[in-house]
Amino acid sequence: MPTFDEILNNAGPLTLRQAQGSGTSLSKEEIKALLAAEGEDKKKLFDRALQVKLEHLDNYVHLRGLIEYSNICTKYCLYCGVRCKNLKVKRYQLSDEEVIECAKLAHELGYGSVALQSGERSDKAFVDKITYLVQEIKKIDNGSLGITLSLGEQTEETYRRWFEAGAHRYLLRIEASNEDLYYKIHPHDAKHDFKQRLTCIDSLLKIGYQTGTGVMVGLPFQTFDDLANDLLFFKQKDVAMVGMGPFIPHPDTPLWEYRDQIPSAEKRMELTLKMIAILRLMMPEINMVAATANQTVDPQGREKAILAGANVIMPNLTPNEFRENYLIYPDKACVKDKPDECHSCLDVRLAAIGHKVLYNAWGDSVAFTKKHQ
Ligand code: 5AD
Ligand code: FES
Repeated sequence: MPTFDEILNNAGPLTLRQAQGSGTSLSKEEIKALLAAEGEDKKKLFDRALQVKLEHLDNYVHLRGLIEYSNICTKYCLYCGVRCKNLKVKRYQLSDEEVIECAKLAHELGYGSVALQSGERSDKAFVDKITYLVQEIKKIDNGSLGITLSLGEQTEETYRRWFEAGAHRYLLRIEASNEDLYYKIHPHDAKHDFKQRLTCIDSLLKIGYQTGTGVMVGLPFQTFDDLANDLLFFKQKDVAMVGMGPFIPHPDTPLWEYRDQIPSAEKRMELTLKMIAILRLMMPEINMVAATANQTVDPQGREKAILAGANVIMPNLTPNEFRENYLIYPDKACVKDKPDECHSCLDVRLAAIGHKVLYNAWGDSVAFTKKHQ
């Protein structure tokens, strides 16, 4: 087993890595050693990840204006506050006009892309509606907005329809790449099927979406072995984008019961940052989001994620009156911020850490673009 410094240095200078192809091949044991880093070693890991990011992607941050379309969901994942069995949630669905207004606002603010997210439905009315909305968003300034969808598991045919309508990126987190752990955080039934999740990710990759996946960090029952395997899973699938955030227990969900059996919020945050940093070494040119969950756990969480290797932020554009109903987890950050406040606050916050927003661009994954050119 190499020493800590050897594992890190294995990432090598840019020219060496280019000769080797994309990123380092860290073994599971090496990843686990990096996950366990403390003190000076931990700092070295974050410094190295930032250096690798800056070499490959510069100091740009890409924005996706997030539109939380609806909290109506047919599933009941054990961690999620908007699961259909949570009867305390007031359900909503934005009107077509509201969605288009949000997308226009994203365009005006120079965000370059929108991400349409929703609770999971796959009925015909929903599929048709999304197809229509994607087409309408594409009409804004002749297709100048990039469109990411985050609408859960669908048939390959549906994914294809939405792709043909103009969506080109899709986020579907695997949540846990270990099947046993998957069934500890989801019900084990036909609606929550691990194999189906994998099939969906494969369909998205096959259709040609820039495909994003990810996991929650600090889940009950999750081990370092699981986390290392999650990173190896992203690498093996060769995804274009990854989103990882700390698990936040929600009082109206079954996993709340295990809130005392997970690492502290601080530890979950730190583990998330380490996951981001290690993955940046392994996949230097993918897009990685600084998830809102980071900011919820730590007011500086988004900045810390950017400094650990993330390069995407998803400012929330959902009309404020609906945001408080989209509480996947409690105390979600920015629920009360107005879209334009978020906007100016971002520029300042990013400048303070030596980064800048790349406005008016889709901000596609460099890894994906290179692979498909
Ligand atoms: N804590 C943190 N993240 C959560 N998500 C869902 N519920 C929680 C929670 N309680 C994440 C899931 C999902 C994404 C939209 O939000 O990973 O894919
Ligand atoms: Fe809605 Fe999991 S609870 S998809």
